[in-house]
Amino acid sequence: MIDFVLATGNRNKVAEYSELLSPLADKVRILSLKDVGVTGDVVEDGDTFEENSVIKSSVPAALGYIGVADDSGLTVDALDGAPGIYSARYAGENVTYRDNNEKLLRELEGVKDRGAKFVCVISITIPDGTLEVPEELVDRPLSAFASKRCGRSVRVIAVRGECPGVITEELRGREGFGYDPLFLYEPSGVTFAEMSHEEKNAVSHRGAAARAFLEIIKKLHL
Ligand code: IMP
Repeated sequence: MIDFVLATGNRNKVAEYSELLSPLADKVRILSLKDVGVTGDVVEDGDTFEENSVIKSSVPAALGYIGVADDSGLTVDALDGAPGIYSARYAGENVTYRDNNEKLLRELEGVKDRGAKFVCVISITIPDGTLEVPEELVDRPLSAFASKRCGRSVRVIAVRGECPGVITEELRGREGFGYDPLFLYEPSGVTFAEMSHEEKNAVSHRGAAARAFLEIIKKLHL
């Protein structure tokens, strides 16, 4: 049995990833940061979704554990990619989803090009000696970045899922969270907040990244 430590304080994410990796349940156990004695927040000061994901997955890796983390957000074409890595705090620190949505609508007032995409990056940071990793899967620049942060030699594999959409002119739907009520998924003609959890997962950035991640894990010699 091999332990993956999910670098999130969010209990829902631990449950989500345990479910995702359930086909490997006889080989992989998902632990939380709390389970390995880590408390407190990680400062996400990277420049990209990839760096922020790795900053988080490096926390358990610095202690010798295999770390897994994700980072996600919304990028809007007409705003040069904003809110991007600042999606959670677009309208400021300690704001609500509603504050962020209102700011986004203000910024896009009168703007015709409303193209956007959701992005999710899942990374796994593997301390040398814990798991054999096929070289072709390793992201070298991210591994160098993570090794520096961990103070030990680690290998990183990262996968990215994206979902294109259009920002609506008003909030639509009650499901989901964050920017879901403003994100129109054109092939379905509805926003993410008008979809069930299953419908959203089938097309979302997080669903795509999660499926890619599972394929990668199957290639590791567990
Ligand atoms: P994190 O990856 O949990 O840090 O998410 C960052 C922020 O991106 C969230 O607070 C949301 O504002 C936004 N976000 C990420 N994924 C989604 C999504 O699936 N729907 C709506 N908003 C999202």
